[in-house]
Amino acid sequence: MTEQGSALYAMPIALRAEAVSAYLRSVAAAALDLGVDDIDVEADCAHPEHLLDLFRPRLLRDLGLPVYGNDAPHCTSLRRFAQHLAAELEPEPIPANPVADPYEGGAWAWGPVERHVASQRNRPAAFVLSAVRSGSTLLRVMLAGHPALFSPPELHLLPFQSMKLRAHTLERLGYTWMRRGLLSALLTLEGGTPLDAERRLAVMESEDWAITRVYDHLQQLEGQRLLVDKTPTYAFHPEWLRCAELAFDRARYIHLVRHPNPAIESFVRMRFHRLLGRHWLAWDDNAWLYAEKLWTTANLHILGFLEHVEPARQLRVVYEELVTNPEVVGRRMCEFLGVPFDAAILSPYDGARDTLDYTGKGAAIGDVNFLRHSAIDASLAGLSTSIHPPQRLGDATQRTAEQLDYRIG
Ligand code: A3P
Repeated sequence: MTEQGSALYAMPIALRAEAVSAYLRSVAAAALDLGVDDIDVEADCAHPEHLLDLFRPRLLRDLGLPVYGNDAPHCTSLRRFAQHLAAELEPEPIPANPVADPYEGGAWAWGPVERHVASQRNRPAAFVLSAVRSGSTLLRVMLAGHPALFSPPELHLLPFQSMKLRAHTLERLGYTWMRRGLLSALLTLEGGTPLDAERRLAVMESEDWAITRVYDHLQQLEGQRLLVDKTPTYAFHPEWLRCAELAFDRARYIHLVRHPNPAIESFVRMRFHRLLGRHWLAWDDNAWLYAEKLWTTANLHILGFLEHVEPARQLRVVYEELVTNPEVVGRRMCEFLGVPFDAAILSPYDGARDTLDYTGKGAAIGDVNFLRHSAIDASLAGLSTSIHPPQRLGDATQRTAEQLDYRIG
């Protein structure tokens, strides 16, 4: 964070909106090569998401503030965006009570979850299942270095029947960023330019390809490699997870687990309550409680789902062990996935692994902090004992954590 950013946080909220507005004006003027006086803070913005794109890198650098699609509705003018940001810089209130029911407040908005059973299943693939902020991007990129695996950024395919409905739903709910992982996979596998990848995706959408056909397309293009799909939102609904068993022959599942404390803290610090709006089985107005509810429900869904999958097709990977003992865990994962061990998985920052967005600008979909490291950082395992969210974790969270062999408190 820059000094200017710290000053904005330290300021009384009543004065902050004006100061943020001046800051946004100067950033916009520099980005657009205009004078500050040429920037009209009251002007209507027809495309709020473009405004977000304009400010995203500077907000991250100067204020340590990631901004997402659910911030966009507030960006109808610079003035409104400044007011929104001024409020967002206030610390999240400390919850008065623990979570009683992790599903309370949820408002599922993704439509029916039933899927047709495919007459012919896709050839085997592997899925990395986890709650968000569990180190899934690191694991995905580690596996992406293996020559016998194809492990692209989050595909966000499994929950949908076909591509047209997927496109409409992502547009309707404000999650078009979920298209970026597939775009990246298409670009990597088929080559060409980012625009070519967008055109190919547009064809899949306009021709309404079945999701199984899209997976099949990727599997044809990747050759003998095994597809690894790591998309944390699959765990947001138990029926979504079951789609993997319907669509794939003998799919394998890596359940990546992480202590709830650092996962919850990271969720709030990274403002994932603004990335993930009120569209899921879990929700809370308070970001600390929302983070906890999502950690608990995602892990509960995965545990429940895996009860119906034979043991040989599932592997639990513990984040804290992954980062402190990557070779031991890496060998275990390779054996589980049926590929020989390859030391490339221990050097996630080496070589081309689709860690940049398909446009080449910024980090790929997943953890934007991944590129702030340069190796597997074993010290982050210690956050399990050093970081404590402000709330007492609810009973369901405590029980789920115990089931995953974590100690709380
Ligand atoms: P923070 O950076 O907020 O601490 P996910 O990819 O599932 O969203 O998880 C993100 C988290 O993975 C990061 O959250 C960080 O704790 C951890 N992580 C990212 N890169 C890492 C690395 N190189 N080594 C160890 N842990 C890493």
